[in-house]
Amino acid sequence: MADAQVISDHWGKGDVFARILEAMERAGINPATVTIEELAPVDHFHARGFPATIELADVLPIKEGDRLVDIGCGIGGPARYLAKRFRCHVDGIDITAPFVDAGNRLSELVGMTGMVEFRHGDGQKLPYADDSFGGGYSQHVTMNVPNRDLFFEEAFRVLEPGAFFALTEHGLGEVGELHHPVPWSEDGSGSYLMRPANTVACLERAGFEKVEVTDTGERYLAGYKAAIELAETGTAPVFGVHILLGKLALQIVRNAARNIEERRTHPVQIVCYKPK
Ligand SMILES: C[S@@+](CC[C@H](N)C(=O)[O-])C[C@H]1O[C@@H](n2cnc3c(N)ncnc32)[C@H](O)[C@@H]1O
Repeated sequence: MADAQVISDHWGKGDVFARILEAMERAGINPATVTIEELAPVDHFHARGFPATIELADVLPIKEGDRLVDIGCGIGGPARYLAKRFRCHVDGIDITAPFVDAGNRLSELVGMTGMVEFRHGDGQKLPYADDSFGGGYSQHVTMNVPNRDLFFEEAFRVLEPGAFFALTEHGLGEVGELHHPVPWSEDGSGSYLMRPANTVACLERAGFEKVEVTDTGERYLAGYKAAIELAETGTAPVFGVHILLGKLALQIVRNAARNIEERRTHPVQIVCYKPK
């Protein structure tokens, strides 16, 4: 699918794992002893990074031994964190092959290959059997998904009755018309934002219930502003998401903040359930 290639080319430029290793070495992180906490500034690749994953995890009913699915797992930080914190298993899938490769190699580095498993694929066509997972989540992925109905129907299909599904995203704000580049698109190609009310309707059409929406705009804005200040004062850490965002990183973060301030985007966290 042409769109899949556009999206994967956008995210996975070059040898992602080699770039991460090189940055680890520059930051004085030893790959032989690296921990998931040391990887966290890079491998939680979404607005506000690791703190946002922790906050999401705090509100999810995850139990020891659960099997979860991470749709659009990136390089796997959230999956490794949840697997370790809850002693559960996480299957991840991502459309960007260099991210899947980097994700699996990072899991090897931290000795977690048996607890998380990442594969290449599209969230609109999941390679899992019906009713396979006790919970699922998708952090900052759906901005790139052209067919939300299909994406949510697939999530619904692979979840067990009663399972949770959580997502975080930049929804479309009242004003619309984004400033580009943004993290998920340089020029608008491969970008498919939806107003939060339409995303909720879409989730309900797929069969989900008890859909709860939290506005995350103010928290994201504070996170972006802090990152901009570090970059502008030359005090940004060597090991940070700019490694993945590339040369446009600062412009991308500035636009992400400005789009929220000008109500062009409307970031949300959504938790819902497959009926029992
Ligand atoms: C901002 S990153 C988030 C990665 C990860 N969820 C995290 O929070 O660290 C967005 C990810 O969504 C993936 N993605 C976009 N569209 C996808 C799709 N249709 N199916 C699977 N992954 C997708 C991208 O390849 C990228 O890894």
